[in-house]
Amino acid sequence: MNKLTLIQPDDWHLHVRNGDILKTVIAHSAKQFSRAIIMPNLNPAVITVENAIDYHKEILLALPANSNFTPLMTLYLTTELSQDEVKKAAESDLIHAIKLYPAGATTNSDSGVSDLKAIYPILETMEQVDLPLLIHGEVTHQDCDIFDREKVFVESSLNDIVKNFPNLRIVVEHVTTKEAVDFVLAASNKVAASITPQHLLFNRNAILAGGIRPHNYCLPIIKREYHRQALIKAASSGNPKFFLGTDSAPHLTGAKENSCGCAGCYSAYAAIELYAEVFEQVNALDKLEGFASIFGADFYKLPRNTKSITLHKQSWTVPESYKVNDKTITPLKAGENLNWKLQCC
Ligand code: NCD
Ligand code: ZN
Repeated sequence: MNKLTLIQPDDWHLHVRNGDILKTVIAHSAKQFSRAIIMPNLNPAVITVENAIDYHKEILLALPANSNFTPLMTLYLTTELSQDEVKKAAESDLIHAIKLYPAGATTNSDSGVSDLKAIYPILETMEQVDLPLLIHGEVTHQDCDIFDREKVFVESSLNDIVKNFPNLRIVVEHVTTKEAVDFVLAASNKVAASITPQHLLFNRNAILAGGIRPHNYCLPIIKREYHRQALIKAASSGNPKFFLGTDSAPHLTGAKENSCGCAGCYSAYAAIELYAEVFEQVNALDKLEGFASIFGADFYKLPRNTKSITLHKQSWTVPESYKVNDKTITPLKAGENLNWKLQCC
């Protein structure tokens, strides 16, 4: 197959930041995706409807002139979030979900939640108004091994949330383990998962073997090959519970190549091409459209896109970096070859 035409995809988990980084990265997402769920972990975080409206405006201003890209906004869940604010969010056309970060789990999660039971009244309201909950599914106890943090969260907290709120729509974000995949498979159709390109492309050797590679470091951390195989199986199965969410999370090169480097991989520059790479490896290119362009929209109760995009089988080399004023962002697979290329304008 040399050419692949898909309904235009959406990205159901995306960090675009603000300021100068936003201005660089937003065009990359907008050239391929129709919509994206925008993560609220700015500093300070997007915690009110008003914050989300302001952030939405900033994103629209940063978009290329003729872009039709639609940012789908989210709120950052804190214990202070009021029931009124949840209702206001549900009524707003801009806001599509609320994101739960366990406190300290990842980049800018200090104002996240440390006692999950404390937010149960908020989850109850979300269930009533049918506003989806997006979960960063990792425990944060320092005594829990970083490779076990998702599995332990699934067994403890996630089980409880799903049992207590059977009608709440939940996306287990960026699943990285067989345990999380199995949990989602066994749950009701209110529970779905997003999957990133890096967790499909790499196992943990890509971070640690033959030298430490900070640009492959993200959270939840990339796991063993056994887990990657479970993720590939889920993503390419045609099961609508699994859909595309890049978790593209740009950091300046200097913040990653550092004695305490930030977590996050920058994949938005070629996200759909990266996914095509994996789906081709397992002879499942026919399953890419459901995963990338249909299942997420259906889960979020949004219309499916009507435009399409085309990818060509064409080798090209990923740039070493993208400029942000006098600094850079280093993309995932910098300097390597990709086999699929989005047909552009
Ligand atoms: C994300 C970021 O940098 O905002 N980092 C990451 O490793 N994925 C936060 C997140 O989604 O965990
Ligand atoms: Zn993320």
